[in-house]
Amino acid sequence: MSRKLFAEAFLNERLEKRKQNGLLRKLSQTKDLIDFSSNDYLGLARSKELGQGLQKAVLLYPDAILGSTGSRLLSGNSEFAEKLEQDIAAYHGMEAALLFNSGYTANLALFSSLAQRGDTIIMDELIHASVIDGSRMGLGKRLKFKHNNLESLEEKLKVATGICYVAVESLYSMDGDQAPLKAIQHLCSTYNALLIVDEAHAFGVFEKGLVAQNGLSNQIFATLFTFGKALGAHGAAVTGSQLLRNYLINFARPFIYSTAMPFAQLLHIRLAYKYLQDHEELPLLLKKKIRLFQKQLLPITHIQTMEGPIQSILIPGQVAVRKASLELEAMNIKVYPIVSPTVAPGTERLRICLHTYNTDQEIEQLCHFLQHTIHI
Ligand SMILES: Cc1ncc(COP(=O)(O)O)c(C=O)c1O
Repeated sequence: MSRKLFAEAFLNERLEKRKQNGLLRKLSQTKDLIDFSSNDYLGLARSKELGQGLQKAVLLYPDAILGSTGSRLLSGNSEFAEKLEQDIAAYHGMEAALLFNSGYTANLALFSSLAQRGDTIIMDELIHASVIDGSRMGLGKRLKFKHNNLESLEEKLKVATGICYVAVESLYSMDGDQAPLKAIQHLCSTYNALLIVDEAHAFGVFEKGLVAQNGLSNQIFATLFTFGKALGAHGAAVTGSQLLRNYLINFARPFIYSTAMPFAQLLHIRLAYKYLQDHEELPLLLKKKIRLFQKQLLPITHIQTMEGPIQSILIPGQVAVRKASLELEAMNIKVYPIVSPTVAPGTERLRICLHTYNTDQEIEQLCHFLQHTIHI
């Protein structure tokens, strides 16, 4: 067999196996359904006001070129990008910020470059794939602790060697629960470990994020803010010390060897931050929607609803959870089924995201379906 045929047979075999297990991933185009699935928690991605503001703002920069034309270290840097970083750092109460093309890239950058041979990265077992992938690219030892379990974290801290980094999400992307940040930071300082917090899903929803709300901004080694979720844009920033920023500029390969964001994206991020600051009512409105969802599901006592916008309704088994999702689709409601390998087998779930723009009737309709579907 030629090498090409051999490779094709291998690719086909893997895909076929996925298909047989009912786990084949496919791209689909979201139809115009009621949105209970996107990460646009505060509606900024669809804000007409913000969109029109962006169109107008673009006209103020007639000399801006379309592409950034290179890595930040070559032709891709600009005064605009550096000023945006300074303002992002100041907004979050940190010394410095560094922009990345996405949250995924930012986590690759951080976790691939920090830990050296002999060092340790300890991560929550439910941490996002980008942290796992980043730490796999690096040289440090990787340890996982049980989700949000302080005893398990302490066990790992006791056996860590070298410089020890601890990675958590402040609001977990699949389960929607929050990390006990204060207790985790306390443990980290006891064991001389450096805490890194991914605020992807908390930023905007909890205003400046849960690190700030817990008064921990000055104690955390690095924080990740992503712009593709509540900010409704795209990209990310790592905040921390000036020293960390300089280090990443020098050693983080996903930063060094990639074309910088184009001007339009930088402008979008700047305006979205401004919009968030000008619309303090949005997190409160979202909270109201979450309260309504919680109240509606109160009768189903075994469902634990979350304080944030991500609500995970366990429907074990990929067939059952897909069926529930299709039934919702027939009602014009979009909720994705989350199956293995994204989550562990047996913890398949409907991942419901609540938004400021979901009407009360829509939430009631969704909850009515859940009340009649969940008999576990
Ligand atoms: C916790 C967490 N971190 C990082 C990312 C990656 O961010 P981005 O979508 O900007 O690449 C995600 C996205 O799903 C996430 O949920």
